[in-house]
Amino acid sequence: MELLFRPRRLRKTDALRRMVRETHLRREDFIYPMFVAPGKGVREAVPSMPGVFRLSVDQLVLEAQELVRLGLPAVLLFGLPLRKDDTGSEAASPKGTVQQAVRQLKKLLPELVVITDVCLCGYTSHGHCGLIHQGAVDNDATLEVLAQVAVSHAEAGADLVAPSDMMDGRIGAIREALDERGFEMVPILSYAVKYASSFYGPFRDAAECAPAFGDRRSYQMDPANAREALKEAALDVEEGADILMVKPALPYLDVIAQLAAEFDQPIAAYQVSGEYAMIKAAAQNGWLDENAVMLESLLAIKRAGADLILTYFAKQAAALLGK
Ligand code: PBG
Repeated sequence: MELLFRPRRLRKTDALRRMVRETHLRREDFIYPMFVAPGKGVREAVPSMPGVFRLSVDQLVLEAQELVRLGLPAVLLFGLPLRKDDTGSEAASPKGTVQQAVRQLKKLLPELVVITDVCLCGYTSHGHCGLIHQGAVDNDATLEVLAQVAVSHAEAGADLVAPSDMMDGRIGAIREALDERGFEMVPILSYAVKYASSFYGPFRDAAECAPAFGDRRSYQMDPANAREALKEAALDVEEGADILMVKPALPYLDVIAQLAAEFDQPIAAYQVSGEYAMIKAAAQNGWLDENAVMLESLLAIKRAGADLILTYFAKQAAALLGK
C-alpha cells in the first residue's frame, strides 16, 4: 500500500521516540506541598493521602534536606495553628508554625525556594477562607488580614507568597502591603483560577480546614466556567500577579491550555489531594501502575501548558526522573 504519511515511522524505536518527544518532565518543574504542625518530633500520617505527613518544624527540615538531595527546587507550606479563632489571628503571627518553618528552612537550606500558602481557612474556627460578617464571607474586611499574613511570611523570609483564598482584589492588596514594607521583590504566585472542587477532600483532612457551615462556592469558581477563568487571571495580572495557577489540574486541562495561550506569565497547575488520592488508592488495589500513571498525569498537565506543577508526587517523580 502506498501511504505517503506513516506516523509510525517515527515511533519505531525508543531512541527515535525520544528524539521527537515534545514534552519533558524535569525535577525543576515540581513544587512539593507540605503541612507544618505545631510541636516537636511530630510526624503524623494523613490517612487519605498515603505518603503525606503533618510535620513539626524539626521533622520538616529533615524532609526538606531529602528534597534538596533529590534536586527539587521548591516547597509550598501550609500551616496548622495551635489554636483557631473567629478571625484566624494566628495566621499572621511571627511565632506561627509557617513563619517558624520558613525561618528554619531559609537558615539551613537557603537554596530551597520557600513558597507560603496565604489563606485563613486553616486558622479560622469556622473553616472559611475569610472573615465572617452576618453569616457570609466579608471580602473587603478579609483583604486587610490576608495582606498582614503575606507580610508576616515575607518577614520570616518567604521567597514567594501564594494566596489561595479567592477574595476579589487580594493580589492588589497583598502587592501594596508587601511593597510598603520593602518586599517589592517578593513575587506573588496567585491561585488565580481556583475551582470550588470536590477534589480537595483529602487536603481538608490534612489541613483540618473543612468549612463548619456552607461551602466555598460563594468565593471559589464554578467548575462549569472557563471564560470566567480568563477574567480571573486577567484581574490578577492587572493587580500584579507574577505566576498564575490553575487548580485542580487534570480535570481542568482545557483551562490550563487557555491560560497558557492567553498570558505571558508562567502558568502553574496544582495536582490536588483528590487527584493524588485517586491514583494512590487505585495503585494500592493493584488496579493501576502507580508510577506510570503518575508520570503520565504529570506529563499531561505539562503538555497542556503548565510550566510548574504543584504535586504531592514531587518526591516520587523526582526520584524516578533521576539526575
Ligand atoms: C485553602 C486550600 C485548599 C487547598 C489548597 N489551599 C483547600 C480548599 O480550598 O478547600 C487544596 C489543596 C489540595 O486539595 O491538595 N484555601
